[in-house]
Amino acid sequence: MKLIVGNLKMNLLSTAERDRYFESFKKELKDSKVGNVQIVLCVPSIHLESFTKKIKSKSVEIGSQNIFWEEKGSYTGEISAPMVASLGAQYSIIGHSERRRYFGETSAQANMKIKVALKNKLTPIYCVGETKEEKENGDAAQVIIQQISEAFAGISSTQASKIVIAYEPVWSVGSDIVPSSDEILEIKILLKKIFVELYGLPVAEKISVLYGGSVKSELINQVCIEPGMDGVLVGRESLVPRDFFKIVKIINKN
Ligand code: PGA
Repeated sequence: MKLIVGNLKMNLLSTAERDRYFESFKKELKDSKVGNVQIVLCVPSIHLESFTKKIKSKSVEIGSQNIFWEEKGSYTGEISAPMVASLGAQYSIIGHSERRRYFGETSAQANMKIKVALKNKLTPIYCVGETKEEKENGDAAQVIIQQISEAFAGISSTQASKIVIAYEPVWSVGSDIVPSSDEILEIKILLKKIFVELYGLPVAEKISVLYGGSVKSELINQVCIEPGMDGVLVGRESLVPRDFFKIVKIINKN
């Protein structure tokens, strides 16, 4: 079953805007066939509770966009995995490139976040990907190997098989520039090789690998179907349910 993750980022600025989103999302969901896909909406933390309460469908799960690595205590402004889980969410994005860029997050911190997510029964969606400079210098593979080995340190094979990876080249996020399907396939093969080395083939086969970065309905063949990805992570196009469901419908049919 393919996974389609919507990352709403820091949007839906009022309860009114959020409620309009619910209405439009629910209408699209009702009108669409979604039997072959799992949708995950990663919403601003402040809206987690309302989303888990208002969107009740087995095709749609809710997730956070980040969590802190400690479960509780004096960490002003942070949101913990037990809090997210207690609101009914099932997923959390971890290590998104915007967290790395604006908040200096590292793969070592992602490692702690992945562990606390799994402990609280949240599925981590761990984001990896190279910057434009790293790609131009031919360092993309090395960067991704490091992002994975640091984030998976001390993770058992049972735990690893539950983690979702999103390959999100930093130069593609928010830019409208996307890699070719061959470039995506190359990274998918690299990721699978890393996981075969770390955990063996049966576990490597269970780890889902998504593509993320400027995903749009007209690009689904290129970024998902042709390279054989397990799904997509969608940013801007998830903000308008009608556009998001164009993606859902295409993937559901394939
Ligand atoms: P985008 O964002 O689809 O708007 O490029 C993707 C992401 O940040 O996950």
